[in-house]
Amino acid sequence: MRLVFLGPPGAGKGTQAKLLSKEQGIPHLSTGDVLREAMSKGTPTGLRAKEFVDKGYLVPDEVVDALVRERLQAARDRFLLDGYPRNRSQADELDRMLAQLKTSLSAVIYIHVADETLVKRVSGRRSCSKCGQVYHLEAKPPKRADVCDACGNKGLVQRPDDRAEVVRERLTVYHKNTAPLVERYKSKGLLRWIDGDRPIDAVARDVSAAAKGTGGAPGAKA
Ligand code: AP5
Repeated sequence: MRLVFLGPPGAGKGTQAKLLSKEQGIPHLSTGDVLREAMSKGTPTGLRAKEFVDKGYLVPDEVVDALVRERLQAARDRFLLDGYPRNRSQADELDRMLAQLKTSLSAVIYIHVADETLVKRVSGRRSCSKCGQVYHLEAKPPKRADVCDACGNKGLVQRPDDRAEVVRERLTVYHKNTAPLVERYKSKGLLRWIDGDRPIDAVARDVSAAAKGTGGAPGAKA
């Protein structure tokens, strides 16, 4: 299984990729998570990325391409790529990486959610400051308020780039740079369209079927 998760900010790519990763035992590679870890550790990559992430802009291609290249070489034939590629240049680079590894994508899972819902989703997101587990104040609250179910840490935080003005910028960047990839993967017959505006477990059932090649509409509505 070699999948790309595509969709706007807050569509549920991370939520669904983590569930599928657990179900299938396949590595989940999220460029957003890798960049946030680098930023929290203050590495040179993290310091460079921060000035872009905090404003809702894309981090320069060469930084992200290098992160993905290194991890794909290790994962080879089993991976769930979440948040990459995000523009045409990254998609071309991914094609080159896969050709060098003598492999190809099995499918692109495109999670579609309308912009109005996305803003609500992202503003309700909270993450554990210790282990990174993701919650939503309404759709997926922790069992005890402000306490992480996974590690018991007290302190769920809002991502700095989930502030309303940054979310608006991220949506603009998505529509300009990333949404055109929907057509690209549709024309290659790889796209699996999933309605992401439903409860998490209903979306997860369709994602699992699409990943196995038995679900998800091939059409596209970006
Ligand atoms: P990244 O972390 O990838 O952010 P994103 O793509 O904007 O996606 P999000 O993490 O916001 O949302 P998601 O779709 O994963 O949704 P989630 O499952 O969390 O990237 C962050 C930044 O890093 C970028 O802006 C950029 O600067 C940089 N970057 C990353 N990759 C890059 C690249 N390739 N090139 C250049 N720069 C890059 O769900 C959201 C919320 O909704 C959660 O609270 C969740 O609990 C809830 N939720 C999920 N599903 C449902 C549902 N079905 N119903 C109700 N609530 C739900």
